[in-house]
Amino acid sequence: MLKVDSIDVAYGDVQVLHEVSLDIQEGELVAVIGANGAGKTTLLKTISSLLRPIKGSISFEDETISSMNPDRIVARGIVQVPEGRLLFPDMSVRENLEMGAYLEKDKNTVNERFDSVYELFPVLKERSTQMAGTLSGGEQQMLAVGRGLMAGPKLFMFDEPSLGLAPMLVQSIFDRVQHINKTLGVTVLLVEQNVRQSCEISDRAFVLENGRMVLHGTGLEMLENDHVREAYLGL
Ligand SMILES: Nc1ncnc2c1ncn2[C@@H]1O[C@H](COP(=O)(O)OP(=O)(O)O)[C@@H](O)[C@H]1O
Ligand SMILES: [Mg+2]
Repeated sequence: MLKVDSIDVAYGDVQVLHEVSLDIQEGELVAVIGANGAGKTTLLKTISSLLRPIKGSISFEDETISSMNPDRIVARGIVQVPEGRLLFPDMSVRENLEMGAYLEKDKNTVNERFDSVYELFPVLKERSTQMAGTLSGGEQQMLAVGRGLMAGPKLFMFDEPSLGLAPMLVQSIFDRVQHINKTLGVTVLLVEQNVRQSCEISDRAFVLENGRMVLHGTGLEMLENDHVREAYLGL
């Protein structure tokens, strides 16, 4: 479904990604794990076309997307929940969700998406008129995920959804990510520093270190890999 083929990405003169490759089959949950500064956000931004690779290419459903503008990428069904959530704090929960569906003109489709988001996150329905900026951290993360779902993603990309959440909420966010993949049937690319929990729920995982993919395998294989255990799990 998605094929990232040996991309190099730089900020000005500073190259951050080096010959990074990644493939995702339809229906998979794939994780990219890596430490702070490894280049995870840069990779997601490049897939979303907010950054352009200086070398290599990206294709989605057999179409080259690496030169498309970001709106067209979203229209193709690639939707990202950004790091830090980036909600509209002075707008209500419902208005934030509506913004997620801005490309969808069909009212029935938008209403169906509201139903499925409210089913997944009942708290968002209860708080639909509350200003987004007054939600708790966990609720804001749910709203960010809900807003992404409102766009009707085929490939849903999460940038460190567990960051800054209390341990209890971390598990519930990973459960929701898994539900979106397994029950709603949405293909997922999950970028995380939380290696254990993301490998546990993913079909396959890739390890990104200093802008290079150094390892990949099934989630289970990565959890049992000596390097991953030493470098990321402290074992
Ligand atoms: N806008 C930017 N300009 C210059 N360097 C950047 C910019 N954004 C990120 N970087 C650098 O690129 C590297 C990778 O960053 P990032 O993709 O955010 O990593 P991660 O998401 O894995 O923490 C870091 O060294 C970071 O300092
Ligand atoms: Mg990041």
